Amino acid sequence: MKTIIEPFRIKSVEPIRMTTRVERREYLRAANWNLFGLHARDVIIDLLTDSGTGAMSSEQWAAIMRGDESYAGAESYYRFEKAVQEVFGIEYVIPTHQGRAAEHLLCQAYGGSGRLIPNNTHFDTTRANIEASGAVALDFPCIESLDTTSDFPFKGNMNLPALRACLEENRGEVPIVMVTVTNNAGGGQPVSLENLRAIRALCDEFELPLFVDACRFAENAYLIQQREAGQSERSVEDIVLELFSMADGCTMSAKKDGMANIGGFLAVRNPKLAQRLREWLVVTEGFATYGGMSGRDMDAVAQGLREILRPEYQEYRHASIRYVVERLAASGVPVVLPAGGHAIFLDAKRFLPHLPWNEYPGQALAIELYLEGGIRSCEIGSLMLGQTDPKTGEPLPAARELLRLAIPRRTYTQSHMDYVLEVIEGVWQRRDEIRGVEIVEAPKVLRHFTGHFRRTKRAEEVTTA
Ligand code: F0G
Repeated sequence: MKTIIEPFRIKSVEPIRMTTRVERREYLRAANWNLFGLHARDVIIDLLTDSGTGAMSSEQWAAIMRGDESYAGAESYYRFEKAVQEVFGIEYVIPTHQGRAAEHLLCQAYGGSGRLIPNNTHFDTTRANIEASGAVALDFPCIESLDTTSDFPFKGNMNLPALRACLEENRGEVPIVMVTVTNNAGGGQPVSLENLRAIRALCDEFELPLFVDACRFAENAYLIQQREAGQSERSVEDIVLELFSMADGCTMSAKKDGMANIGGFLAVRNPKLAQRLREWLVVTEGFATYGGMSGRDMDAVAQGLREILRPEYQEYRHASIRYVVERLAASGVPVVLPAGGHAIFLDAKRFLPHLPWNEYPGQALAIELYLEGGIRSCEIGSLMLGQTDPKTGEPLPAARELLRLAIPRRTYTQSHMDYVLEVIEGVWQRRDEIRGVEIVEAPKVLRHFTGHFRRTKRAEEVTTA
């Protein structure tokens, strides 16, 4: 069949409230032009994130009812632990309330001033946790990832020569190497098994542990199955096991490929490290058999980790994202190619070439998509990832100016995707009129969440003023 249908029926629905353009303008003004400040009821299609926003299955809701809320030794924990051990093949499982708590624990063990932690690209919370510990977070995305127009299949790969140079130049200062699958900040692009094997070989040579940020592990494994030579006959489960066999541990936000609304974990192979992590876990998250989760959350994750591996689910998930990406590319809209695992990334620099980086083209585009059709998306560019020059204190641009439309799992249907296409195409038609954005006030860390912005004046408004 040509049509790949949603492999589920809908049992429970949540109404969407329709709004007008005039209302949306008022809502955005009240939110200081920051989409994180909107009330969700004022959003028609919410593509801000795929994190914790998915729909749970009837089996997950049934698992919720089985949740054992005992403080210590709950059955829910043992089901959760078994699912993680079976899916990832890593023995010691430390439950946390979400991914960033796992990152925080990892940084307790390996962070600290004078240390450097490389990754293909750190997600913003990983970077923030590393920096909060006093260490430096380094990104080494592969060269191919910089060209958003090529169809290179593994743009999530690590730049191996850059990693080697870093390890050689900073012997004794790099405690671990990290790799994020898929590379979220880099466009939801996958990392190949070949690249992971080479990263593992470098870790062996320099005697360093390798930690995987596993948030979207199943999507990465599916893209390996589809794109990497010699992998097409293997199951996604099998590829996941090989991928994690190369790691000494992983951090996970179960709000993504855990198919849950909350949850996460840190899994490690070293029992002594697990012991230390559990000691810290009790201080900030909770007892070792629940971390920051309730029993029912752990059961939902345990079930979700099995459902994410279903071939029908993965096929539909990727077909639905590919559909939007291919249609946009055919209309000439600058979109990151090839389609990534969890989101559609527009290349805002090419979409709005008249806006310089410090007028935040990604944020400008996010504002327009909301005004046009009530779609909430997220800038991943100089607003979220821009840094300051350590020598001069001047702001620096990010490598790319992207706008992410993250697709929640099992939440929207094909007609919602058609609506999204229509809205993007409408904004594309009037792209020349779109104004830039400036920062009114913002905190130093994670400024995209709470910063206040405003739109820059049009040239004619400046001259007539
Ligand atoms: N690592 C990656 C690659 C992520 O994408 C995220 C979260 C985290 C770690 C942190 O996990 O939210 O459970 O604490 N990403 C969300 C997003 C927020 O929208 O991409 P968390």
